[in-house]
Amino acid sequence: MKNFITVKDAGDLKEAFAKAEYVKKNPFADQKLGNNRTMVLIFFNSSLRTRLSTQKAALNLGMNAIVLDINQGAWKLETERGVVMDGDKPEHILEAIPVIGSYCDIIGIRSFARFENKNDDYEEKILNEFVKYSGKPIVSLEAATRHPTQTYADYVTIEEHKTKARPKVVLTWAPHPRALPQAVANSFCEWMNAAGYDFVITHPHGYELDPSFVGNAKVEYDQKKAFEGADFIYAKNWAAYADPNYGKVISTDRNWTVDSEKMKLTDNAYFMHCLPIRRNLIATDGVIESDRSLVIPEAANRVVSAQAAIKGILETL
Ligand code: CP
Repeated sequence: MKNFITVKDAGDLKEAFAKAEYVKKNPFADQKLGNNRTMVLIFFNSSLRTRLSTQKAALNLGMNAIVLDINQGAWKLETERGVVMDGDKPEHILEAIPVIGSYCDIIGIRSFARFENKNDDYEEKILNEFVKYSGKPIVSLEAATRHPTQTYADYVTIEEHKTKARPKVVLTWAPHPRALPQAVANSFCEWMNAAGYDFVITHPHGYELDPSFVGNAKVEYDQKKAFEGADFIYAKNWAAYADPNYGKVISTDRNWTVDSEKMKLTDNAYFMHCLPIRRNLIATDGVIESDRSLVIPEAANRVVSAQAAIKGILETL
């Protein structure tokens, strides 16, 4: 069964870009593919872009789309096996998953890292239970360790705007008051490495990402040095990965905020962020609103990436 969870599920990236460009140019060409098919989108966490873009993608493909907010109107779900369910969670995920699977053809699921247990997060406990027990293909709408439809859209946006065969792409950590998952940063690393770009990651000491995602990327602790000659700056906050600080905010240093002066160090780079963005913390108003900012086209490409991913699954059903 085909799922869309990691970069490997996208196959050859040049072909993935061509598939995305096809659905962008022909958004309603494959409506018969999804006719009488249903996609259920399950959200354990809040969303604006992923919710709307994935629904729109499914509708473009002729599918029915049903959205379930687990925290608003559904029974609270127990996720631990073996517990005596005498608390406030009346339903176990092990019944809920196959029931949901019986109502649809494809499941999309958003389930962030909980930062309670690093192994549970990095083993993708919730996502893998859906893969195992639903009997249906799964599209990750951001899991504990990856956000594949976001990064597919990021990759498409870079391919659309690059002027060099091998652009310099910089992922920079930026400050944020709350502990955010590493999923977007991890996924970005995975796809940028697979794309073969000149890929540099910059962050303060203590914010090292999982080495299996970093791969062969260059890590540069001096943010200004990292920005030199860059073609794309991708800003994102993430909480610490390394023990003993896993899931913690260990710095909110505003010297890491992306501003116009730092952007001048680049080769007239485009600015990217997955949104939502905390203005004047992650990046200044001027950077976000500049004519080199891609945050809106990047978000618009979320429909394209979701549609290409879902279309690929529908073609296997
Ligand atoms: N970028 C992104 O996933 O946005 P949402 O959290 O609003 O879906």
